[in-house]
Amino acid sequence: MTVTIVGSQLGDEGKGGIVDVYGDAADVVVRYQGGDNAGHTVVFEGDEYKLSLVPSGVVRGKVGVLGNGCVVNPRTLFDEISTLQEKGLDPDVRVAERAHVILPYHRILDGIEEDVKSETDQEVGTTGRGIGPTYEDKAGRRGVRIGDLLDPEVLRERLEYVVPQKRALIEDVYGLDIDSLDDPAALDVDALFEEFREIGERLEDRDMTVNASAFLTDAMADGQNVMFEGAQGTIIDIDHGNYPYVTSSNPTAGGAATGTGLSPGVIGNGEVIGIVKAYLTRVGSGPLPTELGGVVGDTPDYDESTDGRNEELAEYIREEGGEYGTVTGRPRRVGWLDIPMLRHSARVNGFTGLAINHLDVLAGLDEVKVGHSYTLDGEELLTMPPTTEKWADCEANFRIFDGWDDVDWAAVAEEGYDAIPENARKYLDYLSAELDTPIYAVGVGPGREETVVVEDVY
Ligand code: IMP
Repeated sequence: MTVTIVGSQLGDEGKGGIVDVYGDAADVVVRYQGGDNAGHTVVFEGDEYKLSLVPSGVVRGKVGVLGNGCVVNPRTLFDEISTLQEKGLDPDVRVAERAHVILPYHRILDGIEEDVKSETDQEVGTTGRGIGPTYEDKAGRRGVRIGDLLDPEVLRERLEYVVPQKRALIEDVYGLDIDSLDDPAALDVDALFEEFREIGERLEDRDMTVNASAFLTDAMADGQNVMFEGAQGTIIDIDHGNYPYVTSSNPTAGGAATGTGLSPGVIGNGEVIGIVKAYLTRVGSGPLPTELGGVVGDTPDYDESTDGRNEELAEYIREEGGEYGTVTGRPRRVGWLDIPMLRHSARVNGFTGLAINHLDVLAGLDEVKVGHSYTLDGEELLTMPPTTEKWADCEANFRIFDGWDDVDWAAVAEEGYDAIPENARKYLDYLSAELDTPIYAVGVGPGREETVVVEDVY
């Protein structure tokens, strides 16, 4: 039995909390895309763990797998494993030999390209972890895979081919002097070879590498429960998101098949749970038709006067929801729930259930709005248009719901769905009906016990 957890919006929907709740019954937790651009905090037995690459279930003793669709920074991988070991845990992490390696020059190139783009206001606001440049090399067939680290001859050959190209790119295209970079060794074949050959030995000594497809198929044949933990979200998917303000992988449910080597049938026969934050946030630039406030430098053509905006309310939700980047501390942009976005997301992913998070954050407001549809060129649209430029031109048509009181949410979680304040249930029921998907869980607070579980998934 499989459960796939997918972010339905722009990332930061609180997937970690739901993985935590449902992951209890899982034996194996798998990431199928992305790398150390994700960020989640797991609290377990009073200790707090900040993880960006290792699947969070590892903290609870599950086997963690980084699938072939991931890009893996081995420095981060071993740092996170060491941190877990220092806290007395014995993490069991496996890495697909087909996964691609983030090399030090990928981070450098990520930074340089963002700088160059920022000169013409075209920066994406990446996490700077080298994610895009690594997937570029994967598609360009000049990447280094985890399996290559196990074979020094192949590793050397790959580096000797690719590193001179990166040097030329930095020097001749971007006009920078490699020796004046913070880490010139990042572009030195010998230094890279030594470091990454040694990493290969470590991976091999610890028996950490796997053929993900075979490993997971065997686990399922043994009757084990597998959870696929999507990172980021549908609207920053490279294919289905708001290109170019996207990450370079497929957080959508299809990515769970290609990113692990299991068939789409395996994923589709299981549960696919869409994680929805009860409002909307966005890190960095790009459109946001239901934006409530604005963040200077991120909100395009920032103008407070736009209909539906309310700076004070945005600030309030940002504070209540702790809407600041986990890694960077950047304030997130805040908006009302965007239903055309979620209709797109539900269609692309085929959600079998929804988990709605942060319902408590909206408690105490007089009214809660949702962007029910858009108007574009005088026409009403119920779903997102395929180009980001058209999406930017969409005007949200809002529906207004009566607000709900702040209550003892832990008690609500214990009592169940019917204990949720009536107006909040109306909001949830509307959402479920619009997306034609049942609600499986509702997050009403940051703690693990503050989740109303409607449906047990395994
Ligand atoms: P990258 O994944 O670092 O290349 O960043 C590309 C875009 O995805 C940027 O807009 C990032 O802010 C966004 N992004 C990447 N990871 C996350 C995440 O975990 N949560 C929210 N946004 C993310």
